[in-house]
Amino acid sequence: MAEEIRLNKEEKKELIYQWAFKKAFFYPTAEIYGSLAGFYDYGSIGTLLKRNWENIWRNYFLSEENFWEIEGNFILPEKVLIASGHVANFNDPLTECKKCKERFRADHLIEEKLNINAEKLTNTEMSELIKKRNISCPNCGGELGEVKTFGLMFDLKVGPINDKDKIKDLIQLIEKENIELAKKIVKEINEIQEKINMAYLRPETAQMPYLNFKREFEAHRQKLPLGLAIIGKAFRNEISPRQGLFRLREFTQAELQIFFDPELINELKKEELKEWEELKISYLNSENNEEGVLKFYEFIKKFELPSFYAYYLGKMYNFFKNVIGLKRIRVRKLSEEEKAFYNKIHFDFEFYFESLESWKEIAGLHYRTDHDLGNHSKHSGVDLSVNINGRKFIPHVLEISLGVDRNILAVIDNYLTKEKIVENGKESERVVFKVKRELSPLKVAIFPLLKNKEELVNKAKEVYNLLKKSFNNYSFKIIYDEKGSIGKRYRRQDEIGTPYCITIDFETLEDNTITIRDRDSMKQERIKIEELVNYLKEKF
Ligand code: GAP
Repeated sequence: MAEEIRLNKEEKKELIYQWAFKKAFFYPTAEIYGSLAGFYDYGSIGTLLKRNWENIWRNYFLSEENFWEIEGNFILPEKVLIASGHVANFNDPLTECKKCKERFRADHLIEEKLNINAEKLTNTEMSELIKKRNISCPNCGGELGEVKTFGLMFDLKVGPINDKDKIKDLIQLIEKENIELAKKIVKEINEIQEKINMAYLRPETAQMPYLNFKREFEAHRQKLPLGLAIIGKAFRNEISPRQGLFRLREFTQAELQIFFDPELINELKKEELKEWEELKISYLNSENNEEGVLKFYEFIKKFELPSFYAYYLGKMYNFFKNVIGLKRIRVRKLSEEEKAFYNKIHFDFEFYFESLESWKEIAGLHYRTDHDLGNHSKHSGVDLSVNINGRKFIPHVLEISLGVDRNILAVIDNYLTKEKIVENGKESERVVFKVKRELSPLKVAIFPLLKNKEELVNKAKEVYNLLKKSFNNYSFKIIYDEKGSIGKRYRRQDEIGTPYCITIDFETLEDNTITIRDRDSMKQERIKIEELVNYLKEKF
């Protein structure tokens, strides 16, 4: 018997982070040096969870015939990000405490304190609000400064260029008032600056498919729709990454860019819409704050969605709700002021995080029109239009964009629970990660009942080797454990979400049967060893 213990925001947060650090899911990068805000490493168990999630994403979204995965570099030349609009527009509003010098995202502070949407306020409007409503530094209560714009990209210089030494020389010369020599060095620095290849760490994975579109389109026999996906790192110098794994400076995105003919937006996928007719869509419309739940066809009629967009909205909803099994999911239609000007249709997918006590974005579905290929054509001088049946046009882009780390946090928030249980007539508590079997980091654990009985240990190792041979795959991770009482071994596996524990006991030695324990029900079944492989194959 088991009953979930309800946790408040602080308790849930503490449970997640203590568990993650202790059980090797994730922990701060360079922890032994005091770490750096906004950076986390995945541990051995967390990496298995992340890879499983990524593979499920791949199998689900890239199963269409002309959809492919590519791998792009992290470093992009400045020109690319000028064309994409990032150099001019990819920034956040920053305010600095005049007393303790801590820096904050002004819009987030205003939203937290005044419970309003500050996303589209200008810097001046935010500065005025901060003054008028007496918003002070959350750290020390000090006065906050004027709101300024802060660029979010990490910049780099490419090539063997070191102007730091020259600048040091220059400062010394100015101090010594050797102005003639200083002028010469300024000239040298200017010459160096002209030769510098400025670049940035990519702020999103999306740019690579746009840059490589022409080559991929040619390689795949000039066919549309063409889907190009990347699962990979993105980098943003976030002002105050204070929400653990939710807001990072280095994070993973899983993004799919679908290039298609805009004239077919109401025709493509029309037939396939019925795949999602059973879905009930929870939504929030930020145009008018209306919330509701509608059947799929009613939903797409209400929001007048073209079939091509509607199909992928249903596909994403089904992914979160049924494939991953998130309990608290909704779509949010962004208001006109919130969405980027080039997104003609934009719904975010939000999950209710108990550990943050709020609905937060974990993904988006963006109809980006010809913004990307159009701008890259203009700036690069390379024509990225296509010619299909004598008609020349720039393909439009539908973007399916997910943050992997945020999704992993959502999976943990959704499935990690504390329960009151009664086992063998005794009451106790357990932490259990009731994640879907496909996602669970370890699949099976094998225990001899006692470690000091050679016959049990030998038999358990025999079962371990049998399963290893039958499921010889790193993503089907099986472990052998003989340390500690059997009860404690079960608890350890419950905590990291292992769906099945197999115990070899004295009965095994007599009749070749083992017990297999189910993580969620804690029930044990006794089956023959020769049936075990098929039993597990069926379960997975
Ligand atoms: N290509 C479109 C794009 O990058 P976005 O809304 O900026 O759109 C997409 O990012 C997803 O990436 C978000 O839904 C979120 O899940 C994730 N994401 C964005 N910034 C993040 C950050 N600082 N830390 C972790 N995940 C982030």
